Amino acid sequence: MAKLAVLGCGKMGEALVAGLLASGWRKPDEITVTARREERLDELTTAHGVDATLDNSQAVRGAEVIVLACKPQDIEALLTGISTDVAADQTILSVVAAIKIGQIESLLAADVPVVRAMPNTPSIVHEGMAGVAGGRFADESHMKLAVDVLTHVGRVVTVDEDYLDAVTAISGSGPAYFALLAEAMIEAGILLGLAREVSTELVVQTMLGSAKLLRDEHMHPVELREMVTSPGGTTTRAIRVLEQSGVRAAFLNAIQAAMERSKELAEGQTDS
Ligand SMILES: NC(=O)c1ccc[n+]([C@@H]2O[C@H](COP(=O)([O-])OP(=O)(O)OC[C@H]3O[C@@H](n4cnc5c(N)ncnc54)[C@H](OP(=O)(O)O)[C@@H]3O)[C@@H](O)[C@H]2O)c1
Repeated sequence: MAKLAVLGCGKMGEALVAGLLASGWRKPDEITVTARREERLDELTTAHGVDATLDNSQAVRGAEVIVLACKPQDIEALLTGISTDVAADQTILSVVAAIKIGQIESLLAADVPVVRAMPNTPSIVHEGMAGVAGGRFADESHMKLAVDVLTHVGRVVTVDEDYLDAVTAISGSGPAYFALLAEAMIEAGILLGLAREVSTELVVQTMLGSAKLLRDEHMHPVELREMVTSPGGTTTRAIRVLEQSGVRAAFLNAIQAAMERSKELAEGQTDS
């Protein structure tokens, strides 16, 4: 089975490695990871038994897929270092936020197929959601390879690169919106006199169960809401208050703001 290199193997890189190994899709000796510090390499070899090196050029040698997983500010130095080591018969899968496919292509000497992905934090528990877009040298086979890699830590949708900012605003930042909602609902439970742990369990399990009904049973959100909203009942009272508070409009505005920020960051506008 062909090799895979993960350059810049931090939290996201490790989540991918763990997913690939857990599913049996790749064996530890088929994966090479890199980082800047020896201690990080030791952590990764101890936890996963993969090959690890500080030398990115060595890691990409013979790799079918090269995953870029460093922070955006480190990508230029990393790619400059491997520019002439990557060939057109390899596939690059970048999960680096805000770095466009064209920037990656321009830092490489050969016409290398590049697939850019925006994964999210639940990839750590293999329930991630990623959007992927292909560059000008990426054909269907390269896209399939990238999707195969990401499928081991969750689900994947393919979009044009322009829409990756929207993906960032929805599923990239999404876990934070649900965390905020969870925090508020747990607090509400406490207001009603429930113990914190009881309130937390009620909220978290309700989120998970609702997500499973929407995803696994293909229930429409309106259907689910109507299912728990009986005439003159409790839910309808709550929904009225939420609608009066402008929750729906707040989500539309918030997610649009996140998308605009994602575009600014991709343009190199780092001041907030
Ligand atoms: N975490 C998420 O949920 C998430 C979601 C979507 C997208 N992303 C994207 O994924 C990327 C990584 O995020 P992260 O949270 O995993 O960051 P992280 O934990 O800081 O990992 C980055 C890793 O890159 C390594 N590195 C930096 N420069 C390098 C170089 N020249 N050669 C080799 N390794 C190098 C660092 O090594 P040392 O540890 O030795 O310094 C570190 O292990 C980011 O671009 C982020 O935007 C993350």
